[in-house]
Amino acid sequence: MKRLSLLFLSLALPISILVGCGQPDSKTTVLQARVDSLQNKLKLAYVPGTGEIMNSIIVSHHLKLWLAGQQKNWVLAEYERHMLLGGFTRIQKYHKGTPEAAAVAMIFPAMDAVKKAIQDKDANAFKSNYALLTNSCNTCHQALKYEFNVITVPTAGRPENQSF
Ligand code: HEC
Repeated sequence: MKRLSLLFLSLALPISILVGCGQPDSKTTVLQARVDSLQNKLKLAYVPGTGEIMNSIIVSHHLKLWLAGQQKNWVLAEYERHMLLGGFTRIQKYHKGTPEAAAVAMIFPAMDAVKKAIQDKDANAFKSNYALLTNSCNTCHQALKYEFNVITVPTAGRPENQSF
């Protein structure tokens, strides 16, 4: 049976290639139309820009991370750290090949240090590593010529993390 179908394939393939060399058959036309329509859909697919990811995901989770750490609410702090990380990995995913995607890795050492402080429930280490994290935000902004976006460590009574 296997042999027979192989024989059939070996005969059918050259014939279909010969036939296929002429005008595209209706099946090919239908498939091409489908590919075209999918390509158009892809072109219209919504991809969040780096600025949007910064403004919607990164800046808010950076702030909440601080507030949770200040309250020593380590479960919430870990959640916020994880969400913040999601912002950075989205840049790597959706903006592959851009300078900002290439620069994302610079934030990981500070992110890891914050993670460890949370795991250890160490408020002092959290504080200093959060400052390191915030510095890394600004290092990247400077490197990519967005240095006017200045991120700060919030101060008591002023729950803000950007300098205006
Ligand atoms: C990989 C480099 C990089 C890192 C790391 C980075 N940023 Fe950004 N950030 C950018 C770039 C690039 C822009 C400008 C994007 C644009 O406008 O299209 C930006 C813009 C911003 C903005 C302005 C968004 C707006 O619409 O007003 C904020 C706020 C911001 N970043 C917060 C942060 C915070 C907080 C961190 C650290 C937790 C951080 N960023 C880390 C590259 C980075």
